[in-house]
Amino acid sequence: KTLHVDIKDVLGTVSQDEINKLDANAASALDKVLNGTGAGSDFLGWVNLPTETTDALLDDIVATAESLRRDCDTVVAIGIGGSYLGAKAVIEALSDSFAAYRPAEQGTPKVLFAGQNIGEDYLYELQDYLKDKRFGIIVISKSGTTTEPAIAFRLLKEQLERQLGLEEARKRIVAITDAQRGALRRLATEEGYKTFVIADNVGGRYSVLTPVGLLPIAVAGFDIRALIDGAAEMEKMTNSADASNPAYLYAETRNALYQAGKKTEILVNYNPKLHFFGEWWKQLYGESEGKDNLGIFPAAVDNSTDLHSMGQWIQEGERTIFETVISVGESKHEKLIPSDEANLDGLNYIAGKHVDEVNKMAELGTRLAHVDGGVPNILVTIPALEEKYLGQLIYFFEKACGISGYILGINPFNQPGVEAYKRNMFALLEKPGYEKETEAIKARI
Ligand code: PA5
Repeated sequence: KTLHVDIKDVLGTVSQDEINKLDANAASALDKVLNGTGAGSDFLGWVNLPTETTDALLDDIVATAESLRRDCDTVVAIGIGGSYLGAKAVIEALSDSFAAYRPAEQGTPKVLFAGQNIGEDYLYELQDYLKDKRFGIIVISKSGTTTEPAIAFRLLKEQLERQLGLEEARKRIVAITDAQRGALRRLATEEGYKTFVIADNVGGRYSVLTPVGLLPIAVAGFDIRALIDGAAEMEKMTNSADASNPAYLYAETRNALYQAGKKTEILVNYNPKLHFFGEWWKQLYGESEGKDNLGIFPAAVDNSTDLHSMGQWIQEGERTIFETVISVGESKHEKLIPSDEANLDGLNYIAGKHVDEVNKMAELGTRLAHVDGGVPNILVTIPALEEKYLGQLIYFFEKACGISGYILGINPFNQPGVEAYKRNMFALLEKPGYEKETEAIKARI
């Protein structure tokens, strides 16, 4: 049982021959990822990360998680972008859908997130919620200077010190950042926090399988060893330059579709637990490929919910889209549809069936309808929503993203465009050092 990619439902739009025209380009792109011969090769630390993750590191993360689980009823993971979305995606995928509404259990803290927005109400309400909680903080920032998490950390650090006293607060703060550089590293050293390092050669959006993702996931009570094992399996399955390599197959196929005019890719799930996986994927592909006026626009829908909102557009709107469906083999729990003698709702025709069987027919019916409607479809199947298969899925998409970016001809590992809003924001806020920009931007408004 393993992740599987099926591209037969794109062949009505691009033929196998058209896809194969990209073979040489795709092989060269894979070589750039594996051998570091392309642009951005300083950021390929994620490629062999699963097989090179040491037991000592995993033991340290698990021990740190255990100590937070013992001492805290709530742990706030502070971070944004790649320092947030991976942990959020995995925790949501593995958690009980109603975990937030159940009473906290001893030894299983609630994991909340902050620093992923600048919402005043969000921060006010979070602090209000935390005022009678035994909380801890995992503060994550590779650069150590990102404004959103820095604001959240300043607020929560001050609150924790007030609630617990300085010494106790320090024991419940873990910082994950660069080994040497950045304000967060300086602060962590000064305060004596437990720290983990984000390696220089792993970019934020490729960092979920480092302590950045692993520590919050372990605090939430999930098996990070199984996650890494799954990723390591996928690492070994994605090294050949042919269609037996699922990452190569996906990367090549989506580029063939892009060249055929399919400018938007919609990642589709049929399991509400995968909503944030779609958010993680959007960052990975959007930030990696959207540059030099190129790049597939990554969108995502949660079905069948969104069939009742976006379904019309997807079925009959402008034909510039394709879909990648994540299909999950088995549900975790069983729920059968009961029979009802009166049958006033007319549902007896599905009585006795698993809810998931109905969901699977919605999935199959939709895929066929969308293919008929001119929306090509890549199918990615995983056996179940479990740590091992999520590890496979994460690594699969990371590897495919590197290959795909090189096929496209861009550097998949930088994000120069993210700086533009920061420069304007700093100028508007009159940050020291931005005096000229402040003057220029004020003249515009
Ligand atoms: O992928 C990226 O590099 C970004 O999304 C970063 O993860 C994000 O901007 C947060 O950066 P940092 O971890 O330095 O605070």
